[in-house]
Amino acid sequence: MAGKHLAAILPQKGGPLSVGERTTPEPGPNEVLIEVKAVALNPVDYYQRDVGMPPVPIYPAIIGADTSGIVAKVGSKVYTAPAPGSRVIALASSFYQNGSPDHGAFQKYALAQSEGVIALPDSLSFEEGAVFPLAVMTALTAWTTIGIPLDTKYTPQDKHAVLIWGGASSVGTFAIQSAKSLGFTVYATASPKHHEYLKKLGAHAVFDYKESDIVSQIVDAVNKDGVNLHTAHCVVNGSLQPTLDVLKETKGDAVAKVAHSPVLAADHPTLDKTEIKFNFPPMDPVARDNHMFQCFHGWLQDGLKSGSVVPSPSIQVEGGGLVGLNPALDKLKAGVSGTKIVVPI
Ligand SMILES: NC(=O)c1ccc[n+]([C@@H]2O[C@H](COP(=O)([O-])OP(=O)(O)OC[C@H]3O[C@@H](n4cnc5c(N)ncnc54)[C@H](OP(=O)(O)O)[C@@H]3O)[C@@H](O)[C@H]2O)c1
Repeated sequence: MAGKHLAAILPQKGGPLSVGERTTPEPGPNEVLIEVKAVALNPVDYYQRDVGMPPVPIYPAIIGADTSGIVAKVGSKVYTAPAPGSRVIALASSFYQNGSPDHGAFQKYALAQSEGVIALPDSLSFEEGAVFPLAVMTALTAWTTIGIPLDTKYTPQDKHAVLIWGGASSVGTFAIQSAKSLGFTVYATASPKHHEYLKKLGAHAVFDYKESDIVSQIVDAVNKDGVNLHTAHCVVNGSLQPTLDVLKETKGDAVAKVAHSPVLAADHPTLDKTEIKFNFPPMDPVARDNHMFQCFHGWLQDGLKSGSVVPSPSIQVEGGGLVGLNPALDKLKAGVSGTKIVVPI
């Protein structure tokens, strides 16, 4: 007989999450069943809880995406994920599974497709491991969205620069770490208290987005450094106009490319010879699975092994387990600064 486990269930649009029992599923051929030890929270989680967006196709739902834990079982055709008993980092989301509640993170046992499951290094805690999945995938997808392959290796002689607007956000910190690994000279924006930290992660220069002359500060630095800035990732809301203001001065006759992580409004600002694309993985499932494999089993796994990728930003642990998820989501919704909220389960 199938076992039962506890879950933070979203009964209907508007929430709140309510802890109850669910039947523990068996993994499908390409899936891994994870005993969840910690989850990290993302803005999409409170959007789904509170307003049902992005759409939640099945209620009661299990939301959440970021987990770390222990492999409980693997499917019959899983060749690449760690064996049962291993500590893992896993993207466990119902988003690409037609809303299947067996796949959401906010429960004690969750299913994940094997492309998004990799070993958690012994040197990292479960809380540290949970910060990676969605933020890493989003940061890496921004590159491929604007046509930059993840195996890109620019050299300093190439003089390629990138602007990351919102460097202290969870996605922004991995945008910086990945930009560095691709060989970009990285310009970022953040509150001054995060500047030194973001430089340690790989930013060449960081600017305070609350300064009225931030655009000219960035343009002057780029000109002085003699690099080519025609690539940007707008990580946070409201950052497209100032990003375009910078690119207007730095791109010359080149075609500029901008990845935009928040939903892109239909009447968003534009700039001549500048492609602005909403940051999203391929819609084709095979292409998406390959992309996910590259993100997790390629960039993240390699970076963790070599020590070039570290958990970021700083971690804020909230207690209460599954019951603690509602107040923890409320804290995220109220706004965080350079922190990732993690809840041990
Ligand atoms: N497209 C996708 O598939 C996808 C996936 C995941 C997330 N997202 C979206 O990506 C965005 C970032 O998510 P997240 O989880 O990384 O956010 P987060 O960590 O909650 O972002 C908080 C940070 O945003 C920074 N910030 C706020 N306004 C800013 C501004 N005007 N300029 C520069 N920095 C600013 C703050 O920086 P300071 O502390 O320096 O003030 C703060 O540290 C969200 O809109 C989310 O919905 C999209």
